[in-house]
Amino acid sequence: MVGLNTSDDAAVYRLNEHQALIQTVDFFTPMIDDPYLFGQIAAANALSDVYAMGGQPLLALNIVCFPDCLPPDVLAEILRGGADKVVEAGGIIAGGHTVRDDEPKYGLAVTGLVPPESIISNATARPGDRLILTKPLGTGIINNAIKADLLSTETVERAVLCMSALNKEASAAMQQHNASACTDITGFGLLGHAAELAEASQVSLEICFSDVPLLPEAMEMARMGIIPGGAYNNKEHLGDKVAFDKSLRPEEQMILFDPQTSGGLLIAVAEAMTDKLVAELTERDVQSAVIGRVLPAQNKLISVI
Ligand code: CO
Ligand code: CO
Ligand code: CO
Repeated sequence: MVGLNTSDDAAVYRLNEHQALIQTVDFFTPMIDDPYLFGQIAAANALSDVYAMGGQPLLALNIVCFPDCLPPDVLAEILRGGADKVVEAGGIIAGGHTVRDDEPKYGLAVTGLVPPESIISNATARPGDRLILTKPLGTGIINNAIKADLLSTETVERAVLCMSALNKEASAAMQQHNASACTDITGFGLLGHAAELAEASQVSLEICFSDVPLLPEAMEMARMGIIPGGAYNNKEHLGDKVAFDKSLRPEEQMILFDPQTSGGLLIAVAEAMTDKLVAELTERDVQSAVIGRVLPAQNKLISVI
């Protein structure tokens, strides 16, 4: 039902009238030193693509690369972090595979379920919809700044909490209030994933910079130039498909390209349903913000005002 052609978050295969299978895989290298927290973050990130499609995780398989030079209890902690997140998601770790590698890497292959009529694709946003973002931006910049030891403990804790949070509640809320389209914000940054949604839905988007939530200290770090290389790749990739209002400073533009680790959901929803969905997200302890709207297709895929 969903495959490669719309750059969606996961593949979806219809099993029968009532059930469709969701299939996705994600893994990456550690962005923080604590192996337990890294395991949590990597698992939350891998599970996120199932939530972005509106589904429920069922089974997960560990994918591990691990070097000989690290003690085995580091690996045990990574796996414990991942397993705890899968349990929180209501799924089961059913096995996995490990290979020896110079650099540790961890993630999951996840199988989920969704009723076929409840699939939320990235290709079905409609002009007039509002755009809601469910986590603040800046994890790429913050992870860079962590390595340089430039941040307060509170900022680091906030960022880790954000990255390890499941998109489970956000997904349940958008199902409840008939979201028209969704994608999760990960390596391509807000604008990269928003552009995929706009392209797949054949619409344009308007994003209001001052409404986009940011992690504490992220803007300050961006101003100092602590911007990951991936953000520049994302900017390059989109080229002139994005137009920025002249008032936006370079670091403000770059933060919208910042590659996110386990970012939030970007949800398109009918204007009339927006307040109800935001209230539902708040009730479920998800801090969300309305950051823009969907327009009929225009010359630019995205305008940032
Ligand atoms: Co995704
Ligand atoms: Co993914
Ligand atoms: Co094997």
